[in-house]
Amino acid sequence: MKVCKTIAEMRQAVGIVRGPGSLGLVPTMGALHEGHLSLIRAARSRCRSVAVSLFVNPIQFGPHEDFARYPQEFERDRRLLADEGVDFLFAPNVEEMYPAGSGTYVTVEGLSDKLCGSSRPGHFRGVTTVVAKLFNIVAPDLAFFGQKDAAQLAIIRRMVRDLNMPVQIVSCPIVREADGLAMSSRNSYLSTQGRKSALALYRSLREAQRLFDAGEHDSEKLIEAAKAALAQEDSAKLDYFEIVDPDTLDPVRTIAQPALAAVAAYVGGIRLIDNLVLGEKSS
Ligand code: PAJ
Repeated sequence: MKVCKTIAEMRQAVGIVRGPGSLGLVPTMGALHEGHLSLIRAARSRCRSVAVSLFVNPIQFGPHEDFARYPQEFERDRRLLADEGVDFLFAPNVEEMYPAGSGTYVTVEGLSDKLCGSSRPGHFRGVTTVVAKLFNIVAPDLAFFGQKDAAQLAIIRRMVRDLNMPVQIVSCPIVREADGLAMSSRNSYLSTQGRKSALALYRSLREAQRLFDAGEHDSEKLIEAAKAALAQEDSAKLDYFEIVDPDTLDPVRTIAQPALAAVAAYVGGIRLIDNLVLGEKSS
């Protein structure tokens, strides 16, 4: 695995493999878990070469968020990626990605203020800007993202469509712990008690799913029941529970086609998200 710390090195390295085979990119912020590895395996199975980026992107964090303490485990991550047969690891520092004077941003208007975008202003602008930069640096044929961050996925798809970026976006299913908790780098912040309480997010989604499967298609009723399920866990503080169109992220009143049920909540001060698609055969 070739490790590149600069943009010039990375461009040169991936330039060498360009040819008939495809190049897949998996953007990450590191602290890798099985969710990330599932994306890498999907990329491996579909592309001749696989590049992974590992960059904790400061501009997608708010001023009071966890940028400064985001878990950094470079050596462990590097070994995991080498074991997965990754060809290129791009791990730049902040100055390399945002040299002094950087002032150009990519904003997907109309989507970036929905779901997490409403409680984390500027978050999605930071995500789309760094992902656009990564696409320009790596020039992948395919890029792999997790359904875990469903709004992020919808916004990136829209950016690619609107800006005619020559890359195919591939979405991968949510990887969960055995008890249902969606894997996340932020789960490492949870205390033993917090880890148990965190299951409330998935429980609330499952409650919506249960009622939906029983024939209730009115979003308001589903949301009410899901919120009540979440409220049973004292230490979980709801940020939002919404049912939206998976592409536009607009609220859906009556579910006639697959709809995204998305939840965000604070557990012991840690912000966690989860989702599932109602009305989809595989969900
Ligand atoms: P990060 O949180 O490290 O996630 C990297 C990728 O892994 C994202 O596409 C995310 O959806 C996916 N992922 C995380 N947990 C997952 C799980 N349990 N199952 C399946 N996929 C999962 O998302 C980001 O980083 C950043 O915003 C990034 C896109 C890298 C831009 O900075």
